[in-house]
Amino acid sequence: MSLHTRQGRTLLRLSIVFNILIVAAIFWIYSFPIDDPALTRSAADGEPSIRVVEKVVERVVEKVVEVPQIVSGASCSLCTANATLCDEMSEGSVEASISYRGTNQRLRRALAKMRSGKPFNVAVVGGSVSRGHTLKEDPEETCKANLHRRIFDHLDAKFPGKGEAFISLPSTESKKGEGRNGFVNGAQGGTGSDYFSMCFQEHIPTDVDIVIVELAINDQNYLEFQRPYELLLRGLLDLPSQPAIINLQTLALPLHALVSGAIPHTAIAQYMDVPTISLQHAVMPQILRDEAYTKQVFVVHDDGEVDGRHLSRWGHQKMGDIVNAYLDTQLCEMDRLEAAEKKRTGKSDIDIDTLYKLDPLPRLLTSDQWDPKRTIPALRPTCASMNSPNKPVPAKNDGWTEWAWKDKNYMITKTPGSTISFEVNTGIGIVQIFYLRSWEFHLGVLKCWLDDNEAAAVTMQGYWDQKFNIGQRYDVAKDASPGKHMLNCKFLGKDGNKASGDEFRIISVMSI
Ligand SMILES: *[C@@H]1O[C@H](CO)[C@@H](O)[C@H](O)[C@H]1NC(C)=O
Repeated sequence: MSLHTRQGRTLLRLSIVFNILIVAAIFWIYSFPIDDPALTRSAADGEPSIRVVEKVVERVVEKVVEVPQIVSGASCSLCTANATLCDEMSEGSVEASISYRGTNQRLRRALAKMRSGKPFNVAVVGGSVSRGHTLKEDPEETCKANLHRRIFDHLDAKFPGKGEAFISLPSTESKKGEGRNGFVNGAQGGTGSDYFSMCFQEHIPTDVDIVIVELAINDQNYLEFQRPYELLLRGLLDLPSQPAIINLQTLALPLHALVSGAIPHTAIAQYMDVPTISLQHAVMPQILRDEAYTKQVFVVHDDGEVDGRHLSRWGHQKMGDIVNAYLDTQLCEMDRLEAAEKKRTGKSDIDIDTLYKLDPLPRLLTSDQWDPKRTIPALRPTCASMNSPNKPVPAKNDGWTEWAWKDKNYMITKTPGSTISFEVNTGIGIVQIFYLRSWEFHLGVLKCWLDDNEAAAVTMQGYWDQKFNIGQRYDVAKDASPGKHMLNCKFLGKDGNKASGDEFRIISVMSI
């Protein structure tokens, strides 16, 4: 023990002497005059390194001036578009937010029309974050702190319409005819792409130019969510106004998985060439390193509890600003393309349909088998919901009535053997019923089939043992022939479970 201590002391002394020698040597070197004035240093005037940097900067600046006026694509970056944003969040996290870029053809086409002076509509299909839940301003959907409103305001300031902008809660109205720009927030809390793929047209104007879709935290981390999400994107892209979609992915912590619908969605967005911007990629690494960062990203309630499902005002602002910077990078790229096009044609204007031509959608769905000939028809989803002005109208009805609990409306029966039929129209053969599932309302079993094909009937259970009540979709047909069909349903009453009972509640009838 003592031997070790004595050796240790000797080593310590030696190392102190050595350090003194090094410091002395450095002073000795600096006491010689150095020729380069930028490096000259005496004890009084220091900072040679800064002067060296100045020289380097001068050289770089000289070089930059030499490059031609049309800047390269690389300079149209998010951080060039908004340097403040990158200062606040770090360049790395802002750049990481671009999950998929794609061709941006539709987006540029939409922006080119805006730039040419045409009025435009921006609409939102999303969940409670998009709805602005917890922003605590009235109305949360359209207040200036809402990330989507921030995006609309950015575009509206650049490309103002005639008169005041039309700012609205879910609505199918458009004021483009009056030359006005419009913003419609069609988001619904707790609603995923299975509902929106069929029913988006009940919540936003179909004459829309840019649709922002935010459903990554409302759908789950399972492949079965790809189909409704793909149908949603297609249905939107198939609208006669041929809008661009921006896919926004936000994040929420207390879900079934840390990353939920973003996983199945991203592959579909790539296949459909839909640009995808993810706040999750920008902030999750920091959240995982430092839990306190959740207080920045998410809402903090008065009692100090962090609501890990809903973005804070900061989160709304940053998500909005990232998208705005992205839009600006597209405008920057378009300047470059348009300058080259004008040079090529010798004209002072560009032709939008030539430079930003509308490409056809992929002929097939991701889940289809390869078929060199087949092209799926344009999707025209239909959604007759008891909760919208467009209610399902029975073609035949024996024992069903309309009924409501508060603002929730149903077509309901309490008599086993009751039948109801609806006429439906389908393009790709999907017919669905949306109905209530509950553990407490004593719901029974419904049997449904198309036309006379009762042999192929499906049955759906109203009762379940999960401790919440929620609407759920069920496919009555997945590959019916295109065109009109009769959807027939018969209430069978209780199932084997003693908590089930003699009641059934239909919410909507949907087809695509
Ligand atoms: C850039 O980002 C900052 C920080 O989020 C924001 O305050 C500012 O309004 C943004 N500027 C533009 C032009 O979007």
